[in-house]
Amino acid sequence: MDRVVSRPEITGRYLITGASGRLGTALAERLTQTGAEVVLLGRTPASLAHVRMGLPPSAVVHEAVCDVADASAVSALARRLHSDGEPFDGIVHAAGHFARGQLLTMDPQAVHDILATAVLGGHWVAQAFLPPMVARGRGRFVLVAAAAVAPGRGAHPEGTSIPYVVAKSGLAVLGQALDAELAGTGVSVSVVYPPTFEAFARPGVLSAAAVADSIAAMVTPGTPVVSELVLGSG
Ligand SMILES: NC(=O)c1ccc[n+]([C@@H]2O[C@H](COP(=O)([O-])OP(=O)(O)OC[C@H]3O[C@@H](n4cnc5c(N)ncnc54)[C@H](OP(=O)(O)O)[C@@H]3O)[C@@H](O)[C@H]2O)c1
Repeated sequence: MDRVVSRPEITGRYLITGASGRLGTALAERLTQTGAEVVLLGRTPASLAHVRMGLPPSAVVHEAVCDVADASAVSALARRLHSDGEPFDGIVHAAGHFARGQLLTMDPQAVHDILATAVLGGHWVAQAFLPPMVARGRGRFVLVAAAAVAPGRGAHPEGTSIPYVVAKSGLAVLGQALDAELAGTGVSVSVVYPPTFEAFARPGVLSAAAVADSIAAMVTPGTPVVSELVLGSG
């Protein structure tokens, strides 16, 4: 059975990386439902436009074409999006790549994309977008890891790949360490560990919408801060 954690009223301004993916799309739908302004970040203009077209005409949505692994592109985007002086209320770093297989035969470009998008992307988004949140004294940054690397999970699980596990573990450490570094600033950094999910739920598998509901609750101002959230399967 699919699971709904909570559905708080959400307003404010949010950035979603990987916005044209399954989770990004569901999160954009969830955040715009109650009037939040959302910036959809991805590398492919047509995919972002497709997500936007699926949202209600009244939704306040912007598209931002950007590769999160490119530090100068992320920094330029942040300058543009902050030009009105308004920091984001919440940012969700959901951009990611996945590849199964053995490391010794894996395409080096796939290894690069998995690591760069998750880990470097997380660093560049933090450096570019969190300083204005810290200056204001409020904001939430949620990093999307994976249940495969959830606390206590132990050895490298089957059905995934070394670069993916390394990337998601690195992302989780980034979140924990950055949250400690920002203690007392009013800006929190959280890590969510979803299991396998799909665009639509089926028995035993969560829907992207259910994962998006949990993340929306984490990123909403005024809700209790959850530093780490391990989601169960459907
Ligand atoms: N689906 C699952 O079962 C599952 C389970 C656990 C964790 N996760 C994690 O949850 C997140 C979302 O998963 P999903 O299934 O929604 O992924 P998805 O459908 O594959 O979408 C990934 C998104 O990331 C974007 N992206 C990739 N590289 C990028 C880059 N360098 N810069 C900017 N955008 C980039 C892609 O768009 P473009 O290619 O157009 O840029 C795409 O919109 C990922 O981090 C994934 O690792 C997924």
